[in-house]
Amino acid sequence: MSERTLTIIKPDSVAAGNVGNIIARLEKEGFRIVAARMSHLSKSQAREFYAVHRERSFYAPLVEYMTSGPVWPMCLERDDAVSFLRKVMGATDPAKAEPGTVRALYGESIERNAIHGSDSPENAAIEIAFFFPTAALV
Ligand code: RTP
Ligand code: MG
Repeated sequence: MSERTLTIIKPDSVAAGNVGNIIARLEKEGFRIVAARMSHLSKSQAREFYAVHRERSFYAPLVEYMTSGPVWPMCLERDDAVSFLRKVMGATDPAKAEPGTVRALYGESIERNAIHGSDSPENAAIEIAFFFPTAALV
C-alpha cells in the first residue's frame, strides 16, 4: 500500500557531495519525492527530532553531528515506504550494513551514517509534520 516516510540526508553526505547519488538511488528504488528542502538544524530542533534517544550515551554527539552542517530532509512516497526505506538504508552501523545499501556505500561510521529513515508509520507521520507543514506536500 502506498505510504509516506521521512528521510534526512545527513551532514556527512552533504559535505561529501553524495546528495545527488543518494537521491538518484532513492528514485531508482521507486520513491517519489513529495517534499524536500535543504536545512541547517538548530540544536533545539535536533534535540527535539531525536528526543526518543535523550537518555542514550550517543545523544549529545548525535545532536552535535546533526547540527554540524546542512541536511536534506525529504518526504518520500512508495508502496511500503517505511520498511522499504530501512532496507535500502541498511543497518545503523555501515560496517554491518548489507553491501550495496546506502549506508554501506556512503556511511563513514555508526554515528556518521549518511541517512536517516523513520522507523514506523506512526513516527513517519510525526517526522513529516516536523519538517513539512501539510501545505508543503505535493
Ligand atoms: P536513524 O534514526 O538516524 O534513521 O538511525 P537508526 O534508526 O538506524 O538508529 P537509531 O538507533 O535511531 O540512532 C539514531 C542515530 O544515532 C547515531 N547513533 N550513534 N555511537 C552509537 O552507538 C550510535 N548509535 C546510534 C546514528 O547517527 C544513528 O543513526
Ligand atoms: Mg532511528
